[in-house]
Amino acid sequence: MLKIKNIAVFASGSGSNAENIIKYFENNESINVKMLLCNLPTAYVLRRASNLNIPSVIFSRNDLYKSNNVIDKLLYNKIDLIVLAGFLWLVPENIIRLYKNRIVNIHPALLPDYGGRGMYGDNVHKAVIADGKKESGITIHYVNENYDDGAIIFQAKCKVADIETPESLAAKIHALEYEYYPKIIESVLMRL
Ligand code: GAR
Repeated sequence: MLKIKNIAVFASGSGSNAENIIKYFENNESINVKMLLCNLPTAYVLRRASNLNIPSVIFSRNDLYKSNNVIDKLLYNKIDLIVLAGFLWLVPENIIRLYKNRIVNIHPALLPDYGGRGMYGDNVHKAVIADGKKESGITIHYVNENYDDGAIIFQAKCKVADIETPESLAAKIHALEYEYYPKIIESVLMRL
């Protein structure tokens, strides 16, 4: 019998990557995006998940850091892989330990550059442009107990034009994210 592998997506914001991932696996018989977990009740990603019929869980700092509420949800739903897609909180150690090499993140720059606390979304693009970099890109990596620090799985690059704005760079980066993140998730799952 085919063993179905379950994904939990964690997101904090708009959730365009979450939506792209959900749609990519929609008709997959062996991979199931089982749930979306979100730390912000007003995040647009919750609307996207509901439109796509994916159950979501909203959790607080207490749920994540001071109780087993989140971990219990992951276990109850038999989650095999945790996918961070614009999730801005640090994953606590108990989840890292339980899901060793089974948590992946996407970062909108070429790590190890432009990573770490506070480096997310447009902050990253502004810093890359301010430094006059000629290229940027995406990094997909395993998650450990530090921000943007786990082993790198995949990177892809794009050019930074002379007239680039944070918005135009974000669009280039998002295009790379949509193209590669679901495929890399699939290949990580195949190896589990
Ligand atoms: C994405 O570009 C993702 O790489 C970035 O947040 C954006 C979320 O967009 N993640 C980080 O910066 C993590 N440090 P989305 O909500 O539209 O998917």
